Amino acid sequence: MTSENEAKLTPKGPRRSLSGIKPTGFPHLGNYLGMIRPAIDLQEDYEAFYFVADYHALTSVRDPQALRDSVYQITAYFLAFGLDPARAAFFRQSDIPEVTELTWLLSCVTHMGLLERAHAYKAAKDQGIEKEINHGVFTYPVLMASDILIYDSEVVPVGADQIQHIEMTRDMAQKFNAAFGGDFLRLPEARVREDVATVPGIDGRKMSKSYGNIIEPLLPPKKLRKQIMKIETDSKGLDEPKDPSTCTVVTLYKLFASKEEVAEMEENYRRGGYGYGHAKQALFEAMDAHFSPFREKYEAIIDDRDYLDQILDEGAEKVRPIVEDVMARVRRATGLRR
Ligand code: TRP
Repeated sequence: MTSENEAKLTPKGPRRSLSGIKPTGFPHLGNYLGMIRPAIDLQEDYEAFYFVADYHALTSVRDPQALRDSVYQITAYFLAFGLDPARAAFFRQSDIPEVTELTWLLSCVTHMGLLERAHAYKAAKDQGIEKEINHGVFTYPVLMASDILIYDSEVVPVGADQIQHIEMTRDMAQKFNAAFGGDFLRLPEARVREDVATVPGIDGRKMSKSYGNIIEPLLPPKKLRKQIMKIETDSKGLDEPKDPSTCTVVTLYKLFASKEEVAEMEENYRRGGYGYGHAKQALFEAMDAHFSPFREKYEAIIDDRDYLDQILDEGAEKVRPIVEDVMARVRRATGLRR
């Protein structure tokens, strides 16, 4: 995009970071390390816009109370981890219904072939015809592109699994710009933290809600401990030497313990006489120490729904002028308006 065209887009302030998270349950450690923490950190240097993707959740959620609860949980979660509502905007996707309008405009320049190549759609299809795929699943990447493009977003902090969606977003923006002859939509960039790209779940595979292998860091200590105790290991006995390099407990411990503590655990593994139960207890203690201040903050606000609604409402208000600007631009570009 040339600098002259840039000028037509949002005036230059701090660069804008945008991301979304689906309210399909309590966030897990993979969400936290891959997206939530990096996104919150960006509020220091970026204008930060983050939202709860409640429209996206409806591709699968059929329980309205669960959806509402999850929206509040995620909002409280971000606040507990330090999202500053004075600087950042945190809002509901559905408070900006124009994203569905922009989804339609993007749909009209997006080829079926692009959507058929989406990993998530292909995976759903590979699970067989029994598993019914709704149109929302197919069009998911278009709604996501709309989410990003409607705010003139510049960087999008996401987990590695979302890179394809950002590439598709750029593709759709380019198609739209080419179709209507101008730089109407700004091309965003994915921001993936390589250091935490994959967090293993309790079965050693990538942590994912769909694998049922998650650890939820803000659970009350007893429940957190229970999840950690379920981490799968090999069946070596207490006395036997063990291999720290292939153990999920060690991989997770590295995320929360000091270098010295990790070295000590590795030494214990190699020496023997140290059981997986000991290692899990150490992991639990490290995680509990790390997360307990955040858990306290979370528990202090989760039931104050008026407060959480106020944060969400104010967030939507803050982003609204940008939405109106972008929508005016695309409505004009397409001929819907003068
Ligand atoms: N698809 C994302 C996920 O499952 C959530 C999401 C929806 C999103 N819209 C977005 C992420 C826009 C970044 C930007 O994690």
